[in-house]
Amino acid sequence: MPTVYVSRRIPDEGLKLLEARGHHVVVSPHDRVLTKEELVAAIREHRPEALLCQLTDRVDGDVLDAGKPNLRIVANYAVGMDNVNLVAAKARGIVVTNTPGVLTDAVAEHTVALMFALARRIPEADRYAKSGRYQGWDPFLFLGMELKGKTLGIIGLGRIGFGVAERCVKGMGMRVRYSDPKTNPDFERELGGQFRSLDDLLRESDVVSIHVPLLPSTRHLINADRLGRMKPTALLVNTSRGPIVDEAALLDALESKKIAGAALDVFECEPSIVCRPDDHLRLKALPNVILTPHIASATHEARQAMSRLAAENILAVLDGREPPNIVR
Ligand code: 8YV
Repeated sequence: MPTVYVSRRIPDEGLKLLEARGHHVVVSPHDRVLTKEELVAAIREHRPEALLCQLTDRVDGDVLDAGKPNLRIVANYAVGMDNVNLVAAKARGIVVTNTPGVLTDAVAEHTVALMFALARRIPEADRYAKSGRYQGWDPFLFLGMELKGKTLGIIGLGRIGFGVAERCVKGMGMRVRYSDPKTNPDFERELGGQFRSLDDLLRESDVVSIHVPLLPSTRHLINADRLGRMKPTALLVNTSRGPIVDEAALLDALESKKIAGAALDVFECEPSIVCRPDDHLRLKALPNVILTPHIASATHEARQAMSRLAAENILAVLDGREPPNIVR
């Protein structure tokens, strides 16, 4: 009976599916991220055929070697793949899969929620109302920006970028520009999206939303120079990966009012919110920054579907079939 090692407790639909097919599922007893040593030790102990891991696990050559000779698949419980060394997995003949599609709606909805929260200053207004400072209606209280008719810049037109654009165009009447390695004629036809170079997109957009994977070429894609190209009234939203934005440069740009606000669900030095401890105070002093703790896919629906999809990928590989979400 093949063993599936799960590096952290997850919603159980996928695990039930694996058990129903007779697989032996071992879930880490620690409800936290394992250290690399703990992950290696657990794999050596349980000798799994499949590892179901989290985006917080660094799956490198050492972890993969610990799985020899049994380990056949690493099923990442995430769409992002930057935590898995794909080259090392390929060299060892280990299949890697992810969970695309099933979290698109959750992440797109969260991204739009962040846009509204920033544009209408919801967290600031909430803090103000709860603090008892409200004295009555005021024509200037918490003036914000309307999204209708504004230009949205989507950096990275994959599934999630498309989902965000669709909601913003159809639901909010925004215009959309996109930058991506490829043009997408369907997107242009269906949603009126216009392709732009990254620099032109930054110059034209009122709201910029990032949806690229973390790769060597996208690290610090949004740096001081690029932030300097944005409108002083523009808002930046990041629900992709933290290191795509140079956070020190972002703090400078916000403090010097080069841009009007930012909402981040991911952080450059995650799990820390800031890379340098002093920056925490700088962040806290900025009312136009909204932070959520990497929860864009955190809906009951998405997290159960991710669990099922990870399990389906594992079942396919253990049955000798090509898994639906192989990452090459
Ligand atoms: C996130 C993720 O919640 O699956 C991933 O790779 O990181 C998602 O689950 C989202 O992309 C972060 O905002």
